Amino acid sequence: MNSKIKLGILGGGGDSLIGVLHRIASSMFDQFELVGGVFNPELKESISFAEEIGLPTNRIYEDLDSLIEKEKALPENERMQVISVLTPNFLHFPMAKQLLENNFHVICEKPLTTTYEEAKILEELRKKSRKVFAVTYTYTGYPMVRQMKEMIAAGEIGKVHKVDVQYYQGWINEIIHDKEKRSSVWRLDPEKAGLSSCIGDIGTHAFNMIEYLTNLEVREILADLNYLYQDNRMDIDGTILVRFSDYAKGVIRSSQIATGEENNLTVKIYGEKGGFKWEQENPNHLYLMKEGQPMEVLKPGHSYNSKISLNGTKLPPGHPEGIFDSMGNIYKGVARAVKKGNFWPGEFPDLREGIRGVNFIEKTVESHQNGNIWVKLNH
Ligand SMILES: NC(=O)c1ccc[n+]([C@@H]2O[C@H](COP(=O)([O-])OP(=O)(O)OC[C@H]3O[C@@H](n4cnc5c(N)ncnc54)[C@H](O)[C@@H]3O)[C@@H](O)[C@H]2O)c1
Repeated sequence: MNSKIKLGILGGGGDSLIGVLHRIASSMFDQFELVGGVFNPELKESISFAEEIGLPTNRIYEDLDSLIEKEKALPENERMQVISVLTPNFLHFPMAKQLLENNFHVICEKPLTTTYEEAKILEELRKKSRKVFAVTYTYTGYPMVRQMKEMIAAGEIGKVHKVDVQYYQGWINEIIHDKEKRSSVWRLDPEKAGLSSCIGDIGTHAFNMIEYLTNLEVREILADLNYLYQDNRMDIDGTILVRFSDYAKGVIRSSQIATGEENNLTVKIYGEKGGFKWEQENPNHLYLMKEGQPMEVLKPGHSYNSKISLNGTKLPPGHPEGIFDSMGNIYKGVARAVKKGNFWPGEFPDLREGIRGVNFIEKTVESHQNGNIWVKLNH
């Protein structure tokens, strides 16, 4: 019998943005069963949200301490196995740390932590506990992103020499131009969000995407950030030059004040024999460009796709799948790792990628604050 993995969720209450994505994604392949958690800081709110979504309230806890105490008292086959951390950024580290210390598998939202030091502590704890740890860089779950990764690795575009990733949103305009509003949201409060707003929130996705796709490590970066107002403590826009090597370079352009933009993550990877282009707002089309040839459009579900790409497509070609499916594929990878102890490389973003992301955020701010200088990333 294929018993479902018992899942708990921290954060992601009815008032949250990301909760619904994780709940639906986790149920998509019938691998997980949500059994409880701490959805909100107030127990009353958590319970009423559980009731709203039809979840029994006996495993809705006041806080993580009581969750751990009560869950550990249950027989092992009833206990939560995987816990997803979907709270504001500053809670990722203390929660993930406590979960690893108590032998739970963890799925954690990005950015992994608010400092590199914290991220390295999690690495040590994970090594000791040998638990599965995923960091939800959601966009890596799209079938055509996985296809692009496989084709780059197989040499389709030759040696990569240029990357250009844009992640543009415009939503913060409504907040940033109003003095009161910009001092009241957690994403613009360094105590809650960490060092950076724009780069921590979306630049980190762009950075992960180029390393995920090319299988190359960014060696050094030079950043120019925009804070827009003197009293605003967090960047809301930034341009970052990246170098993989002396001959492979590129740019990350990231903004929350790109007026009118929704969630425009556009990735371009160019190699000596061809280029790929992919747009998150049109995720089922992967463009392959070659000099002197018509552009090819690859789509999900066709037999020309790789195994890992096909594994993330649920319906025959022509049935558009989107962000829920992309996150569903990440949960599917985690399920394989938890149940079978193995998984395909790239099937879910792991702790190493989370650590790289936090290092990137810190180095970006360092580069900007020191006069837009080149800064090396850690290895
Ligand atoms: N992977 C992605 O594409 C993606 C997209 C959006 C957000 N995120 C990340 O997800 C996280 C949450 O973002 P969001 O937009 O959903 O935030 P949000 O502010 O909309 O929701 C946060 C939720 O956490 C709850 N919460 C706060 N403190 C808590 C505590 N101590 N215990 C339990 N619950 C608590 C809040 O009540 C709320 O339900 C952030 O780290 C963000 O960076 C990732």
